[in-house]
Amino acid sequence: THVVTENCIKCKYTDCVDVCPVDCFKEGPNFLIIDPDECIDCAVCIPECPANAIFAEEDVPQDQMKFIAINAELSAEFTTISRSVKPLPDADEWNGKEDKLQFLER
Ligand code: F3S
Repeated sequence: THVVTENCIKCKYTDCVDVCPVDCFKEGPNFLIIDPDECIDCAVCIPECPANAIFAEEDVPQDQMKFIAINAELSAEFTTISRSVKPLPDADEWNGKEDKLQFLER
């Protein structure tokens, strides 16, 4: 599967959604996740993310490994999104900030 990591939080650009052939993205208030049961590992979303937040599971950086479980867990709570929407208002300001996990809303 592919995994959405920390830098999506408070950005949520959603460019990833439009290229996904299987609608595997699910949306929460300020973060998206990839449903590991739906992702077909096509990888087309990776270069679309302006926050570089998406990785193949085997390429997830060491400090982002917890997001593998977070994507799986939140796939039961978040709702499917199949079209891009506007990024969050301060997305460009938050892009690249560290320690955003504390701001994840469910
Ligand atoms: Fe998040 Fe990047 Fe998609 S910021 S919503 S993973 S385009």
